[in-house]
Amino acid sequence: MVSLKSSLNNFIPYSWEASSEEIARKYGVKAEQIVRMDLNTSPYKPSRWLRSLAAKLPDMAVNLYPDTSYRRFREKVSNYTGLSADMVLVGNGGDECIMIVCQAFLEKGRNAVISIPTYSYFRIAAEINSAEARLVERKPDGSDDVDKILEAVDKNTGAIFLCSPNNPTGVTTSLQDIRKIAAEAPCPVIVDEAYYEYSGKTATSLLSSYPNIIVIRTLSKAFSLAGARVGYALAAEETINILNKVRPPNSLSIISLALAEKAMSQVDLVKRWVEATVAERRRLASAIGKIPGIVVKESEANFLLLTFKTHDAGKIHEKLMEKGFITRNLGNTIPNTLRVTVAAPKANRKFFKTLQSIVKVALGGL
Ligand SMILES: Cc1ncc(COP(=O)(O)O)c(C=O)c1O
Repeated sequence: MVSLKSSLNNFIPYSWEASSEEIARKYGVKAEQIVRMDLNTSPYKPSRWLRSLAAKLPDMAVNLYPDTSYRRFREKVSNYTGLSADMVLVGNGGDECIMIVCQAFLEKGRNAVISIPTYSYFRIAAEINSAEARLVERKPDGSDDVDKILEAVDKNTGAIFLCSPNNPTGVTTSLQDIRKIAAEAPCPVIVDEAYYEYSGKTATSLLSSYPNIIVIRTLSKAFSLAGARVGYALAAEETINILNKVRPPNSLSIISLALAEKAMSQVDLVKRWVEATVAERRRLASAIGKIPGIVVKESEANFLLLTFKTHDAGKIHEKLMEKGFITRNLGNTIPNTLRVTVAAPKANRKFFKTLQSIVKVALGGL
């Protein structure tokens, strides 16, 4: 018999919507008709980068390990962020960076203070490392409750998790709030900026003054590379040196690195995708906001949080799936809400029409 370690006796693992194939089978829709609006990924496939990779593939030294210092990619990140390459840690997605931070700073007897509702992997990574997750509710407007966060911090706090823009609310944390928390809390303050490009707001200007701030970013969102699994952390060099002590030596493939390096050398293209997504977010938010009974939260990311005032979000979620639209049902995290990723213009228009017709039906029947 095998059993999970005792610190995880009451552990709630990560959960996600089913695969497109499973949903297609269950609802009798074609897999290629399915539009994934649940994962906050980009609708723009980077075909140019893939073609350039394909040309390089025959000569790639896949028999060897990658350069485990990931120097070339760190230099690209350095150009992109304006920070020294020594202030960059590379990970297999933002998730691995989150896990590395937790491995470095958390253990049994320590706690992680997490501003919620937010990305569930902060709690999960903290608990996997046997730490207590101290969840601090955000204020009703969605902003972080800085006073309560600081009240929750004690001598055993190993990490504070902020997320800006926050998943799933789309709200950013002000530099003033981040600075106050970092100045008063004697522990690492993680600012997850997975959706940074959509907001244009970042805490990187604070890194030189606050060695306890760690910014985590990813190429899974604006850079359209969720399948390649590349993320990075930015912090003062002394902090990056600590994180490097615990990171796995070779968690990125040379294929992912090649794609990531290409992506970082074409940030103008990424900017155009981001501009298109932000324009679509505004259009979609304004259109959905006119449907009676749905409240759309203003978002600085590539998704919208919809609160259903007169309908059951679970039923709407199900009906959308029947039409091939997969949204994220936030269930009990934020009652009666769905999180919807902004897709390409055509899919957004179709989604809006479908939602509108479902809600009308729902008004009459559900
Ligand atoms: C806030 C946040 N951080 C990190 C991640 C994970 O990013 P990655 O794909 O780089 O592991 C996500 C994914 O949805 C996210 O929403």
